[in-house]
Amino acid sequence: METEIKTSSEAIQEKTSAEDSQALDAAPLPRHVAIIMDGNGRWAQRKGMPRIEGHRNGVKTVRKIVRTAAKAGVEYLTLYCLSSENWKRPPAELSFLMFLLKKYLVDERKEILRQKLQFRTIGRTEELSAGILDEINKTKKLSADNTGMTLCLALNYGARGEIIDAVRKLAEQVERGELQPGQIDEQILSNSLDTTGMPDPDLVIRTAGEMRISNFLLWQISYSELWVTDKHWPEFTEADFHMAMQDYVKRDRRFGGLNS
Ligand code: IPE
Ligand code: IPE
Ligand code: MG
Repeated sequence: METEIKTSSEAIQEKTSAEDSQALDAAPLPRHVAIIMDGNGRWAQRKGMPRIEGHRNGVKTVRKIVRTAAKAGVEYLTLYCLSSENWKRPPAELSFLMFLLKKYLVDERKEILRQKLQFRTIGRTEELSAGILDEINKTKKLSADNTGMTLCLALNYGARGEIIDAVRKLAEQVERGELQPGQIDEQILSNSLDTTGMPDPDLVIRTAGEMRISNFLLWQISYSELWVTDKHWPEFTEADFHMAMQDYVKRDRRFGGLNS
């Protein structure tokens, strides 16, 4: 009797896990993945190298993960490259970051176009140097008609600043009589943010273990799934990215409601 009961409960278990894996196969992948690429400096220091070597190696991971995300069918990939608070770093590190950013924009243009990526940025890019702005605008223009994944770089980005900029724009519209205060809703505010036209991130990945958001996409990540790894950005692999995606599809996104 005992054996029979055990057998039938095992059968139920087997059936359930088969159903589970079917459900997993059918679960939608994240359309928008946003990454806080952290830990470059610590990675380098751990290896006895200067922090800038971490940034140099971080660019290699960017290349790899952009390709991986596009191949996986992600529609939007947002990468936190430079925050509005990163200006607090020492001048030598900042000037190396600017050098690397310009070099990346020039070196990767061909590859961005080959992969048919749509290139965009968020953040106060107008405060970057004219040379960097030129490279940004060139790639934006050349990739404008592409139909592949959107690669969005967060440059001199801070979510609080972004929300302030949006509120100012709306206040100016109200002042000109183009908008009534009562008309302002979530959609209108969303459309005034730098991320206008992009869906909210489904999945936020942070490397290097910190359990914080660091002023990234505060409005947009209200219901994003968070995935944090202890690995530093230069050592983050394609397999890690796939692991994050697999964990994501197992999550039960309830958006405040009740799922069965
Ligand atoms: C992330 O790595 C890159 C930028 C913020 C520009 P960090 O430079 O923050 O590296 P850690 O966190 O100090 O190790
Ligand atoms: C977040 O990393 C910003 C980027 C990855 C560009 P930080 O290293 O600046 O964040 P904190 O200072 O640890 O919060
Ligand atoms: Mg950091």
